[in-house]
Amino acid sequence: MKVLITGSKGQLGSDCMSLFSKDNNVVGVDIDEINITDYADVIEIVGNVAPDVIVNCAAYTNVDAAETERETAWQVNVQGPRNLARSANKFASLFIHVSTDYVFDGGKEVPDAYVEVDAPNPTSYYGVTKLEGERAVSETADRYIIVRPAWMYGIHGGNFFKTMLRLARRNPTKEIKVVNDQFGSPTWSYSLARQIKKLIEVKGLGIYHTTSEGYCTWYEAARYFLEKMGVEHSIVPCTTEEYPTPAARPKNSILKNARLQEDNINSMPYWKSDMDLYISRFKGRLMDELKIDK
Ligand SMILES: NC(=O)c1ccc[n+]([C@@H]2O[C@H](COP(=O)([O-])OP(=O)(O)OC[C@H]3O[C@@H](n4cnc5c(N)ncnc54)[C@H](OP(=O)(O)O)[C@@H]3O)[C@@H](O)[C@H]2O)c1
Repeated sequence: MKVLITGSKGQLGSDCMSLFSKDNNVVGVDIDEINITDYADVIEIVGNVAPDVIVNCAAYTNVDAAETERETAWQVNVQGPRNLARSANKFASLFIHVSTDYVFDGGKEVPDAYVEVDAPNPTSYYGVTKLEGERAVSETADRYIIVRPAWMYGIHGGNFFKTMLRLARRNPTKEIKVVNDQFGSPTWSYSLARQIKKLIEVKGLGIYHTTSEGYCTWYEAARYFLEKMGVEHSIVPCTTEEYPTPAARPKNSILKNARLQEDNINSMPYWKSDMDLYISRFKGRLMDELKIDK
């Protein structure tokens, strides 16, 4: 199978590259080779590769900056997937797009989880662009899969857990406030890549929730991670109001992988066991990357 991966140097894109390369002919492109907001760029690259599958991991992912950089966020998260979906049709490629839990408003009572048929209602501009990106894909692509992960972490690039590690190592006694009233499921990008591969194999179509099983707060997740890493820390729980951010986040980001479960193809692990595996694989690398002096 010939696979084109956009955003190939990002967190999820890098893991898709290593996983899909094991048994496929894979071409990866990132911002240096393609600007997905430019249709001419997109059609040229898709034409050169003529892929069976396009996995779009490229996105504008800075949730807070999206509140002010609206035009860029819209172009990358809406126009980009539309361009890719249009090009996919020309080569009869399956188009895979990655959305987010932030399409929901989080108003459900915890632990009620969002399912695929629940009505989206984003509270941030990032969420608006991701929802409109989903709509652009579903309106344009002949054959598509949209996955909705949440709270993603991986070994490539930056993420919340790496930030926690850096702060704790820099000063183990300095108090770090972490939000303890937003709930979700930390999801390892490699496990998402595996789930995407499975969806292709079983010829899935449409929207799928693809988060780890189980849920926690950001505070609980950070604490679990740092303790498993064996790193001293002084993180303390706080409320969303005590840690204001430019973009509003859903209080309840718990998604149920309802369609994966119904089709018996849910390969997403429980979040703690997956984080254990991530740490056992990457502890040394994380410690080296996030040296105290950085
Ligand atoms: N991270 C999370 O917690 C999370 C949670 C839920 C859903 N998601 C979704 O999951 C997907 C993957 O996220 P991620 O964390 O892997 O993202 P990421 O690490 O930020 O990777 C995105 C990649 O896309 C590239 N890119 C940006 N604009 C581009 C453009 N115009 N043309 C081509 N490439 C462009 C980026 O390059 P630069 O780095 O140079 O900008 C980067 O390499 C995204 O759709 C995101 O919305 C993420």
